[in-house]
Amino acid sequence: MAETNLKIESLGAGGDGVATSHEGMPVFVPLALPGETVAVEIDDGRGKLLWIVEPSSDRIKPVCSHFTQCGGCTLQHLRAPVYEDWKREQLALSLAARGLETKVSPLEVGAIGMRRRAVLSATRTKKSVMIGYFKRSSHELVDIHQCPVLSPDIVEALPALRKLVRPLLSRKNIARISVLSTQGGLDVVIDEVEPVEEASQRVKLVELCAGLSLARLTVSGEMIIEKDRPYISFDGLKAVSPPGGFLQASQVIQDKMIAHIQELVSAGKAHKGRALDLYSGMGTFSLPLARYFKVLAVEYDKTALSALRHAIGLSEGLKPVEILERDLTIMPLSAFELRDYDVALFDPPRSGARAQVAELAKSDIPRLIAISCSPASFARDARILIDGGYELRSLTPFDQFLYSTHVELVGEFVK
Ligand SMILES: C[S@@+](CC[C@H](N)C(=O)[O-])C[C@H]1O[C@@H](n2cnc3c(N)ncnc32)[C@H](O)[C@@H]1O
Repeated sequence: MAETNLKIESLGAGGDGVATSHEGMPVFVPLALPGETVAVEIDDGRGKLLWIVEPSSDRIKPVCSHFTQCGGCTLQHLRAPVYEDWKREQLALSLAARGLETKVSPLEVGAIGMRRRAVLSATRTKKSVMIGYFKRSSHELVDIHQCPVLSPDIVEALPALRKLVRPLLSRKNIARISVLSTQGGLDVVIDEVEPVEEASQRVKLVELCAGLSLARLTVSGEMIIEKDRPYISFDGLKAVSPPGGFLQASQVIQDKMIAHIQELVSAGKAHKGRALDLYSGMGTFSLPLARYFKVLAVEYDKTALSALRHAIGLSEGLKPVEILERDLTIMPLSAFELRDYDVALFDPPRSGARAQVAELAKSDIPRLIAISCSPASFARDARILIDGGYELRSLTPFDQFLYSTHVELVGEFVK
């Protein structure tokens, strides 16, 4: 492969620098920044960065020594205001692709050490255990010893997690370790390993837990030990997460999103006193909404709903929260069922809420709040709502996934 110099023109959606080859074709160069001249080897539209001939003044020193190797982060080398504007711009571009134009508010920023949930992989080598993330677009695991993005209690636990997972690993398997930092300690879930069948194995695991600030350990779906309840909180309201259950990745960003949503909903008039929380999970938003409204929480995951039921039992002073178990893709709430609400919030998975949004578009609910981790599916759903007579009044990005290319957002629609 020939070596060549290229001028980087922009930063693509995947966080790579984008240049034009001498033949006029786009070339994606990981770790290169707009304005830089870089020496690369080009292979099939991808440029391998050899060295930086002329660096950008927006280039900064990454906060982590694993950056460039570990696939967990993409954008540690970009100065903060430019990074923040780039995230906003990704949102504007997704909307523009659907013919929509809206003012995007400044990015609600996070900070290092804020990620409370990590899904790590672990494998055994001849002498030790590797724990970490995969290299980008690769099955090669990077053994991490620091991670400035993660909550420090998770990083401190890495040596003890290596010891804990070791007896569960064969030479071949790659275990998945989900770690959640909770008020009671770490909630650790180990999957992709053989079930723990022998009592002696269980005793050994419990012994190894002594080295961990642990709340609960679950292996292959079986709870091995619960030293403390893995409490989490939504706007100060207590809940217990089921092992490996969905939670917003950062507590700080979750709290900022809740505060923003409360501000939006309390600005409107509550004629009916009722709110809907669609795709409620275990109630991240249902419980805080119940400070203002009677809430109907709709979700298809039984485990999440039983955690919500439990959390309702723990909380005091809230308006009633009702629960409906329903698959909103197969059977969305119909426009008829959507009457009599002041506000509906929807927080679907990455694929969005196409079927449900088609019904919401026909409804007369005066305010809709959309939460999304995918600007592309959000823009598609926003188009449906706007075509149904809604106005996208505000749109705020949140930096839930620091240094990644992901953008979380809260959009407010009114009719
Ligand atoms: C992004 S999570 C949001 C959960 C919750 N709002 C929170 O912030 O913790 C999406 C939720 O949608 C649920 N879900 C996914 N597909 C669904 C469907 N077809 N019908 C109902 N719920 C669904 C998932 O189980 C998950 O709890």
